[in-house]
Order: sequence, then C-alpha cells, then structure tokens
Amino acid sequence: MPADATRSGSDPVLSLRGATLRFDDRTLWSGVDLDVQPGEFVAVLGANGTGKTSLLRVILGQQRLTRGEVLFEGEPVRAGNPGIGYVPQQKLADDGTPLRARDLVGLGLDGGRWGFWPSRRKRAVVDRLLAEVGATSYARKPVSRLSGGEQQRLRIGQALAADPHLLLADEPLASLDLSNQRAISELIDRQRRERGFGVLFVTHDINPVLGMVDRVLYLAGGRFRTGTPDDVLRSEVLSELYGSPVDVIRARGRIIVVGTPDSGHAPHDEHHDAGHEELCDHDPSDAEAVAL
Ligand SMILES: Nc1ncnc2c1ncn2[C@@H]1O[C@H](COP(=O)(O)OP(=O)(O)O)[C@@H](O)[C@H]1O
Ligand SMILES: [Mg+2]
Repeated sequence: MPADATRSGSDPVLSLRGATLRFDDRTLWSGVDLDVQPGEFVAVLGANGTGKTSLLRVILGQQRLTRGEVLFEGEPVRAGNPGIGYVPQQKLADDGTPLRARDLVGLGLDGGRWGFWPSRRKRAVVDRLLAEVGATSYARKPVSRLSGGEQQRLRIGQALAADPHLLLADEPLASLDLSNQRAISELIDRQRRERGFGVLFVTHDINPVLGMVDRVLYLAGGRFRTGTPDDVLRSEVLSELYGSPVDVIRARGRIIVVGTPDSGHAPHDEHHDAGHEELCDHDPSDAEAVAL
C-alpha cells in the first residue's frame, strides 16, 4: 500500500462501537467509539490495570465485550485472524531455547493464512523480513543470546510475516533502553507507512512515539478520551477525565503528567508512585529531572 495510505475517507481497518468491558463489578472501559484508518498510528495510554491489554485481547477475538461491537475490516472479530499482527508484552527468550533468530520470524509464516511454505520460498520471505527489521546480521544466532532490542525486532518481523492490515503492539518499548526505544518506534512507524497498516501501540510513555502518533486513546478509571495528542494531553482534559486536578507539563519536547490519582488503584503497577503517574521513562523521578 502507498505511503499516503492514511486517508480520512477510507474504510476503517478497525471500528469499536460502544465497546464496554466489565469484569465482575469493575468497568475497565465503557462506550468506547474508535475507528482506526489504514496507515494510522494510535497510541493506547493509561496506567497499569486500566485495561489496555484486555482491549487488544478483545480485538484478537480472545475476550468478549460486555457490550458494543468490534469490527475488523467491517466484520466482527474472530480468533486467529491473520490480518491482525500482534506483538505481545515482551518476554525475553529463556536461556537454552535453541530457536535461532530466523526461525522465530519464520514462525509468523507457518501460523499464517498460507499454512506451511515450501522451504526455498520461505527462506526468501524470511530473509526479506529480517532485512526489513534490521536483523540480518544476527539471523543465525540463538534468540536467547540476543539483547532485548534485537529480540523485539524479531518479534515485529514475526508479526509482519502474514502482511497484516492492523498491528497490535503491547508495550513494545518496555524494558528497552532509550536508543532501542527510538529504534523500535521508528521501525514500526516506517513499516506502517510503507505497508499501510494501522497500528494500536500500547505504551506507558508517549514520549518515544510523540512525533509519530496520529491519535491517542487514553484510559483512566473506567473512562477514556480519544483525540490527537494535543487534544487529549492537556491539563484541563485530563483533570476532567480523572475528576481531580492533573497537570500536563511540556518541557523540551517531552510530556509529563503529574498528579493522577489512579496509580493507587493499580495493584500490579510496580513503576508508579501514588499521585505521580507518568507518560515518561521507567524511573519517573529520573525522567522528570531530565525533562524539567
Ligand atoms: N479474564 C479476566 N477476568 C477478570 N479480570 C481480568 C481478566 N483479564 C484482566 N482482568 C483484570 O482487568 C484489569 C486490567 O487488566 P489489563 O487489561 O491487563 O490492564 P493493563 O494492560 O492496562 O495493565 C486488571 O485488574 C486485571 O486483573
Ligand atoms: Mg498490559
């Protein structure tokens, strides 16, 4: 698909209509309306426990909505759709896994819509994918010997193997250093422009992708806002969303959100201090010092 694949007049690749997800008596999000256009880059923001991964599981057909609908290219979603590429939350490969880098990318073809490929054709396709994600130089190395950034490139290569029209990436920058955060973000950005797929990119931290993001979906306390980063990442908008005063600070091209109340409601959130939620790096105090 051409580089200008983002067209407001085209059919959305993904549509959420009144999408609501509840577990027991807890509403993760409710009434979400969102269209993702071909080639569009949408960041999904929110503290841990706000339902970002659950949203991806809904789109993957692994979790049913409580209410509303979710359509992929106009059809209700179903499990195992090869049109949707998925980069799950990162797990580093165990030591002793004999899988080589190129095998990992090749798995994306085996599971795809063409079944098992003839080996020569498959080798050529894997070589092209490895080149596209910048992994040619370590194609024959065991995955377990590679760095987090190198492994993440392979996982993106694997997700792209079936030529998806939508890429879901769940915190693909977590545990990467700043230069790898940049490299992985730029890789996804370049690929979505060249191939024209839509992207839902889950992240705690908007900063590494701020220049690439077309729109954000910001989840907080069972509610949400959508819009451009400039529309949503403002003190008034987030204060209204959270129902308490929140400051959005912009400094040296970075965005820091200070004063959010929901980190105290996020039992699995090891990174966040109460009352200080970030769209910034792993160590909030450190990132704040850098930005201010
Ligand atoms: N299948 C489920 N049944 C009950 N609760 C769940 C289920 N899946 C997720 N949750 C809960 O929903 C909340 C949101 O989880 P998740 O979507 O993983 O959030 P995030 O990715 O934003 O951190 C968590 O409190 C989690 O424990
Ligand atoms: Mg998650």
